[in-house]
Amino acid sequence: MRELLYDNLTVGENGHLYFAGADTVELAREFGTPAFVMDEDRIRAHCREYVRAMREYLPAFSRPMFASKALSFKEIYRIVGSEGMGTDIVSPGELYTAHAAGFDLSNAVFHGNNKTDPDIAYAVKCGIGFFAADNAEELYAIDSAAAKAGVKQKILLRVAPGIDPHTHKKISTGGVDSKFGSGIATGDAENVTRLALSLANVELCGFHCHIGSQLFDITPFIDAVDIMTSFIARVKQVLGYEAGILNLGGGIGVRYVKEDPFISVTESVKKISSALFADCAAKGIRPPAVMLEPGRSIVADSGITLYTVGSIKEIKGVKNYVSVDGGMTDNPRYTLYQAAYTVMNASKADREPDLACTLCGRCCESGDILQENVRIPRPARGDTVAVLTTGAYNYSMASNYNRIPRPPVVLLSGGRTRVAVRRETYEDLVKCDE
Ligand code: LLP
Repeated sequence: MRELLYDNLTVGENGHLYFAGADTVELAREFGTPAFVMDEDRIRAHCREYVRAMREYLPAFSRPMFASKALSFKEIYRIVGSEGMGTDIVSPGELYTAHAAGFDLSNAVFHGNNKTDPDIAYAVKCGIGFFAADNAEELYAIDSAAAKAGVKQKILLRVAPGIDPHTHKKISTGGVDSKFGSGIATGDAENVTRLALSLANVELCGFHCHIGSQLFDITPFIDAVDIMTSFIARVKQVLGYEAGILNLGGGIGVRYVKEDPFISVTESVKKISSALFADCAAKGIRPPAVMLEPGRSIVADSGITLYTVGSIKEIKGVKNYVSVDGGMTDNPRYTLYQAAYTVMNASKADREPDLACTLCGRCCESGDILQENVRIPRPARGDTVAVLTTGAYNYSMASNYNRIPRPPVVLLSGGRTRVAVRRETYEDLVKCDE
């Protein structure tokens, strides 16, 4: 038996791929394709691991905030909220969705490098817990919105620690070339901190940084702890302000293909904890509460996408194209980033992978490819194909290009299914048209 990517995947006696105990070919029949199918129990298990590890190893009030840019619809806010997670939102649309789901917005951080005045006023009105204020201009805007609303608004300041997560080198330019936050190395971060402390209607609670995404190495987080605690110590010394919160952003990587390593969240949190306590002791500061903002590592490996095979084109001496009924509209990540994915023929999961092919979508564009050079058991028209690890940045990045309706999101839990997002209809597509 070949090893499957995750332990919630099995092959049934009928040769079909089973996901979280359900026959994926049956799911495709019942809900149609393309469809996002998600293992809710696995999402919850990931939330619990973050909540538990952060409670156990990090200072009091440390907590994970689900980065909902990875996946945003009402039910996901209810799920992560019920598991004790906060959330990170980056737009008024995500804020609206969380609010409509009844999410406790006092446990939310509002991110983004360009929040408009209406965005800010809306978030203040909704009682947003924290703004991650990006720059001086935005600080003034938040201060004035808070004054108008008669509240003192909690904020974190986004700073750029200047870490390149792929080389693990601390770049001396200190993240000067970033649209996010204020650089530590340039002195901007300190100046913005001074400004934040001078404003009457904002309460500075701490600092935020985000290093990158899909990281398999915890070293950049340890570097971030070092740089950020040095910054906190300097601010304490120069401005007499000691930060209570250190938000280290998201970024822990997940397995898309079998060559990818498995990263333990608990072990990662333990390493962050050791570095934090040691750094704080050495630098004479109180260990701040830590926020992490995992997105991908909460939902990516809890989701798969099911498609139905259509045309199969064998171009002799060139390549084989297997076309499915979705594509870059439900998963633009190969087109955008050449992202690797594991592809399975869910109808014939027990057979030898004997066809090398390119899995492509149905859009009128050659770049509409889900994956190149994969080997799967030779499919026939009508077979179900599963692309794994599509729970993050797929539904949330889906589009209506070529007027293709977005797929539904079906949740599986304890052997039961429920639709969290229904399939878009053609009527939905013309809803905004005059
Ligand atoms: N916090 C902040 C401030 C972020 O910018 C991000 C991701 C996260 C948290 C969550 O990071 P995660 O734990 O998911 O790695 N569309 C890309 C990913 C963009 C991520 C941007 N920021 C993709 O499909 O790979």
